[in-house]
Amino acid sequence: MKSITTFIYHAFTSILFAGFIISCSSDMETNSSASENSQLNKIERPNIPVEVKDILAKSTCLGCHKMNTKLIGPSYSEIALKGYSEETIIDLIKNPNPKNWPEYPPMAPITWLAEEELATIASWISTLKTIE
Ligand code: HEC
Repeated sequence: MKSITTFIYHAFTSILFAGFIISCSSDMETNSSASENSQLNKIERPNIPVEVKDILAKSTCLGCHKMNTKLIGPSYSEIALKGYSEETIIDLIKNPNPKNWPEYPPMAPITWLAEEELATIASWISTLKTIE
């Protein structure tokens, strides 16, 4: 009788211990991705150039995207790390693909910008991937 109680006791503590290990390792995962994000935020970048900022501001982009920190959408720096070509960035602004950002709500297509404005935004976003 005593050995059964000891067995149950050991089984129970092992389960607790396993649960503890699992919860620690999943914490570690979240911590590491959070620290990657804060690394990204610490990178010093020049301010958004005025000609780009004007377009972003009038097009409501800044309501959802900041340069280095996530808002409603991912930061421009994080988008830049995907390594898209400028043409792809232009396509994605006109026709967003929410599958690229499963953890965010979908962005509505932005169709009213002139091609030069889209090109200005896209070439600026591409410069953000160079971490100096
Ligand atoms: C109402 C909020 C909102 C506005 C306004 C907005 N975005 Fe977004 N954007 C998002 C969200 C959320 C995502 C991520 C989900 C997605 O791609 O659908 C995103 C994704 C993106 C991406 C990445 C696309 C991809 O597939 O990787 C780019 C580039 C982008 N936005 C640029 C812009 C630009 C430029 C503007 C302004 C012309 C703009 N966004 C306006 C919310 C917004």
